[in-house]
Amino acid sequence: MIQAPEHIRSINPYVPGKPIEELERELGITGSTKLASNENPVGSSPLAMKALRKGIFGLNRYPDGSCFYLRSALSERLNVNGSDLIFGNGSNEIIELAVRTFLSPGDEVIMAQPSFVVYSMVVQAANGKSVVVPLREWRHDLDAMALRITDKTKIIFTANPNNPTATINTKEEMDSFMKKVPEDVLVIVDEAYYEYVRSADYADSMEYFRQGRNILLLRTFSKIYGLAGLRIGYGIARAEIITEMNKVRQPFNVNTLAQMAAAAALNDHAHVERSKRINERGMKYLYRELKALKIHFVPSEANFIYVPLKDDAALQIYNDLLKEGVIVRPMGPRAIRITVGLPGENKRLIEALRKVPGNLG
Ligand SMILES: Cc1ncc(COP(=O)(O)O)c(C=O)c1O
Repeated sequence: MIQAPEHIRSINPYVPGKPIEELERELGITGSTKLASNENPVGSSPLAMKALRKGIFGLNRYPDGSCFYLRSALSERLNVNGSDLIFGNGSNEIIELAVRTFLSPGDEVIMAQPSFVVYSMVVQAANGKSVVVPLREWRHDLDAMALRITDKTKIIFTANPNNPTATINTKEEMDSFMKKVPEDVLVIVDEAYYEYVRSADYADSMEYFRQGRNILLLRTFSKIYGLAGLRIGYGIARAEIITEMNKVRQPFNVNTLAQMAAAAALNDHAHVERSKRINERGMKYLYRELKALKIHFVPSEANFIYVPLKDDAALQIYNDLLKEGVIVRPMGPRAIRITVGLPGENKRLIEALRKVPGNLG
């Protein structure tokens, strides 16, 4: 039988949040709540849905491989050239494209831990080496990351806000970090949740792009725009970087409906504002209730909350909550991650947590 090489065989497959339908099938229940994948509980942008209804009529044709309309709309919105943008089947695809484009076997990629697990998976698939640097007080330790740069370093991943901890790095920290990164290293700043950030200290990574630095910013329509099921995200980088990545990209990687929906969603300011408001209210409620339950959590700058645990109880808590019809995400043995839901969903989570035996604090 054909065998995959060792660096592929040793990859731990990605475990997605449990789909609602799967839980309900397994337990024979209905009306359960998924707070496991940092999706927008408000739903998709209504303007995007309107565009989708029109879009279903052209599906006998291949998509526009250049994403012309979306590219024009976004370049105007961000005040960048169209050639500085790349679109992907989710920002996940752009993570993979960047690694496939710039990494040779044996090269090193620096990333934080815990951070978005896809980074290390794609590095391993490319036979590269992940250099992992533990978070400090749940945030990227950018000083420690800079110290790990060697001649073999090609890429540094940062997620700002980070997933799973929902913490940010400040402008001051990023400024000082960027000064330490050599010219031949690509810094990827994954900003999947940037629309949710409230802190005034949040780093504006577009500044580094405008300075002409080797930076690739990643954003997505999966989170605040509520289009996770369509799979569309984008990257912003100097055209020289994008040109190389385009050589590796499949010609029709972003489907027609995703392009149309994303272009419409960009103009749906009302939906974005409403989503932010509902997230902030939900966050306030959850902070209050978690405190009342004496459950320790990490303050969040995104649409989810990280709950570190004293002992290896994550799987038990996850399973206990499943029985109450609430899906959260275990993050290793000692943490769970909870997405902020709609008011009724948040209330249901708190009620379920009250029933979970043992101490989460
Ligand atoms: C930090 C981070 N980056 C990227 C992604 C992937 O998003 P997309 O749906 O655009 O592939 C996620 C999704 O959870 C994420 O948390």
